[in-house]
Amino acid sequence: MSKKIGILIGSLRKDSFTKIVAQAAAKLLPKDVEAEFVEIAHLPFFNQDFEEVATAPESHTAFRKQIESLDGFIFATPEYNRSYTPVLKNALDIASRPYGQNKWNGKPFAILSVSPGAIGGFGANHHLRQVLTFLHMSPVQQPEAYIGSVTTLLNDKNELKEETLKFLQTVVDALVSKL
Ligand SMILES: Cc1cc2nc3c(=O)[nH]c(=O)nc-3n(C[C@H](O)[C@H](O)[C@H](O)COP(=O)(O)O)c2cc1C
Repeated sequence: MSKKIGILIGSLRKDSFTKIVAQAAAKLLPKDVEAEFVEIAHLPFFNQDFEEVATAPESHTAFRKQIESLDGFIFATPEYNRSYTPVLKNALDIASRPYGQNKWNGKPFAILSVSPGAIGGFGANHHLRQVLTFLHMSPVQQPEAYIGSVTTLLNDKNELKEETLKFLQTVVDALVSKL
């Protein structure tokens, strides 16, 4: 069976730069690895009262199942106030619970932090890395992907230029090698 990479995007913005980068990364996966964009915007805020199966929102139960079915992940995130975004944290928390049923467990991941700013979402990237490591996931350590000054990396059709695609390919390849 072919492997599947889940792609989670930490921005809900229609014209998100992070989304452009994530979509470009998806296209760089080899033919025998499928990309699945994982929706997270609709998930109600995690509440520990929802942990009982009887009280869990249907969307939480479905999300946990979806995460369980995936073999690895790309987390693409903007930086909000030197961290990653709350919509992404909510998704991580939901699939990490109930205690002892962490659906992220053992799965490989790559982080793409994206910013119009010069330091490429370094703070977001490392906060996220810390949480994913705690969730017992397996990081692509190198290459690290801080996609900074993103507006300068786009052509007039808002597509990433060749040089950045080449770099992204090295990140995607490193993730695929961990599947
Ligand atoms: C609440 C908020 C906080 C932000 N904090 C940072 C920050 O810490 N570092 C940074 O580089 N950009 C920051 N920005 C600017 C974002 O990088 C910029 O809005 C970017 O376009 C968001 O990503 P997106 O295009 O994928 O939605 C912040 C934006 C918002 C809305």
